[in-house]
Amino acid sequence: MLRFNLIVAVCENFGIGIKGDLPWHIKSELKYFSRTTKRTSDPAKRNAVVMGRKTFFGVPESKRPLPDRLNIVLSSTLKQEELPKGVLLCPSLEAALKVLEDKSDIENIWIVGGSGVYKEAMASPRCHRLYITKIQKEFECDTFFPAIPDSFKEVSPDSDVPLGVQEENDIKYEYKVLEKQSK
Ligand SMILES: NC(=O)c1ccc[n+]([C@@H]2O[C@H](COP(=O)([O-])OP(=O)(O)OC[C@H]3O[C@@H](n4cnc5c(N)ncnc54)[C@H](OP(=O)(O)O)[C@@H]3O)[C@@H](O)[C@H]2O)c1
Repeated sequence: MLRFNLIVAVCENFGIGIKGDLPWHIKSELKYFSRTTKRTSDPAKRNAVVMGRKTFFGVPESKRPLPDRLNIVLSSTLKQEELPKGVLLCPSLEAALKVLEDKSDIENIWIVGGSGVYKEAMASPRCHRLYITKIQKEFECDTFFPAIPDSFKEVSPDSDVPLGVQEENDIKYEYKVLEKQSK
């Protein structure tokens, strides 16, 4: 079965976004996102990042599509011509996974938001791990992370995940990894 992981940064009041953007500016966290979603063990392969329409267009124009990764945008209203070359448009998460099943040059699949995509992803038996950055502060938000199903439990992270409380611009945060427990 094709599996995927999810990556998100969430604040104390469970927010993930405001007005189409991130509620905070934490450079080192963005670098962690970039590094984690790019990393492959086979240098000949790359990873895929799957996201909703608003998340894709929330990335600054100069930084999208996210480089060195296959960008897949979920939307039922966009047309392929409205997306930059090389970006795939899919009408559903299942459709995206079907496309990915046939791509032997893709190593890992990362679900990168937003809200509804995260909810659908966590409910799927294909969802393996949740890489969650817990930001230890409240922010004004209009988009929130859905409830995490009880089947996910915290595990010790791989060596690439910085341990302990991190800090930037007076904002404290910690990287966590949760994994779906088999019944
Ligand atoms: N903190 C974080 O880690 C993080 C991560 C990601 C995003 N964000 C923030 O979250 C906000 C954006 O998230 P959002 O929840 O508002 O929107 P979103 O999920 O990025 O986009 C919503 C749109 O995506 C399409 N879509 C979503 N699920 C779909 C599905 N299963 N099948 C087909 N189309 C689907 C629909 O587009 P159509 O209407 O075109 O059909 C829907 O209106 C921004 O503020 C962004 O900065 C934060």
